[in-house]
Amino acid sequence: MNITTNVGSISFETPLMLASGYITEKPDFFLKASSFGCAGMVTRSLKEHVPSERSRVPAPRYSILGESSMLNCEWGNEHPWTQWRDGWAEKVRNTKKPLIISLSGRDIEGCSHLIDAFSGLADGFEINVSCSHSGALHGNLNLDFTHLHKLFGTIRSRTRLPIWLKLSYSPFVVEMAVEGEKIGADAIVCTNSVGPGMLIDIATGLPKVGMKGGAGGLTGPAIFPIALRSVYEISRAVDIPVVGVGGISSADDVIQMMMAGACAVQLYTCPALKGPKVFAEILQGMRAFLASHPEFDSLEKIVGHSHDKSAVHRFEAPLPKVVEEKCTGCGICIPSCAFDAISLSGSTGKVIAVIHDNCISCNACLGVCPSGLKAIATTYTL
Ligand SMILES: Cc1cc2nc3c(=O)[nH]c(=O)nc-3n(C[C@H](O)[C@H](O)[C@H](O)COP(=O)(O)O)c2cc1C
Repeated sequence: MNITTNVGSISFETPLMLASGYITEKPDFFLKASSFGCAGMVTRSLKEHVPSERSRVPAPRYSILGESSMLNCEWGNEHPWTQWRDGWAEKVRNTKKPLIISLSGRDIEGCSHLIDAFSGLADGFEINVSCSHSGALHGNLNLDFTHLHKLFGTIRSRTRLPIWLKLSYSPFVVEMAVEGEKIGADAIVCTNSVGPGMLIDIATGLPKVGMKGGAGGLTGPAIFPIALRSVYEISRAVDIPVVGVGGISSADDVIQMMMAGACAVQLYTCPALKGPKVFAEILQGMRAFLASHPEFDSLEKIVGHSHDKSAVHRFEAPLPKVVEEKCTGCGICIPSCAFDAISLSGSTGKVIAVIHDNCISCNACLGVCPSGLKAIATTYTL
C-alpha cells in the first residue's frame, strides 16, 4: 500500500522523518536511516554565529530515564553551518529525500542570512523557537509572540521555500501555532523537548545534566501524551499541516499521531538510543495495521480520524474480561488493582478472575498486563 504523505508542497515516501538534534549535526545517521525507510531529515538547528561560550558542551549531556526517555542539555553546534552548505546538504539530496534545514530563531538576522545561503540547497526550513533548556538560560521564545512576529516579519519574504515553525508544548502552544499560521508559517512542528526539567544524582547531590542551573529538555516516551495532545489541539485550530514529534517509538504511536491530526511525524530519541533500524520496524508495524484496517486505504484517511471522537464525556464502563487462553497467571495485574477486584482462580489456580462487584473499570489491569500477552480486554460500544 502507498504510504507516501505530503507536508504542504513537500512529498515524503513514508510519514517518518528524522528530527533535529545531535544525530543530525552531520548527514551520516540519516544516510543509514534512509535505507530503513526514514523519508527525510531535519538538520540540527544551525546558527550563523555560535557564541564562544557554546564551543564546549556541558557534561553529562544526557540522563536516561527509565529505558528510553531522556533529559538533555545539548547546545551550540560542533561544526560550522558552512559544512552543510559546502557538501553535507548535497549528500542528503543525493538520496532524493527531502532535506529540511533547521535554524535557530533566536538571532533573527543570522537566521535570515542562513535562509539566503540555503535557499537553493534545501527543500524547506524549520525554525526552532522552542528548545526548553536553552529557554531556561536565554529566555523562553516559545511563549514570545513579539519575537515571533519580528522573526517572521523578517524571514518570510526571504524565500519561497516552505518555512515550518517548531514549537514546544506550553499552555499557549495553540495560540502560538495560530499566530504562526497568520504570519506565514507553512506547517507547525510540535513538540520540541518539554520542560525544562531536572534530575539529581543523590550520591553527589549534583544535577544529572551539566548545564549551569541543572536544566534539561525532556524527550522520549515520557512526553508522548503531551506531544499527542498538542498535535490534536493545534491541528483542530489551524489549516496548515501539522508534523507530530515527541516520544514516538512504535507504529502504534505513529498511527495515534496521525489520528490526532499529524500528516507526518519526526523521531529523535528512539532512533538515537535504539539505532536507525527502528524506522524499518515501525514501517512494518504500520503496514500490518493498514493491512488489517481496509477502511484506511490511504494515510490521508487516518489524519485527524480522532477529531470528532471526543465531543462528549464517555460514561460507559464495561467490565474487563480475562482471555483465559492467553493468561499465564503471572499475577502482575493483582497489585495494580487498588480495589481487590482481581484474584487467582480457576481449576489450575493460575487464571486471573475479575471480581465484578469491586471493579470500577479503571483499566489499570489492562495497562500492566505484559504487552506480549494482553490477556485482559475491555470492549466499548461507543
Ligand atoms: C540531544 C537532543 C538534541 C536536540 N537538538 C535539537 C535542535 O537542535 N533543534 C530542534 O529543533 N530540536 C532539537 N531537539 C528536539 C528533537 O528534535 C525533538 O523535537 C524532541 O527530542 C522530541 O522528540 P523525541 O521524543 O522523538 O526525541 C533535540 C533533542 C535531543 C534529545
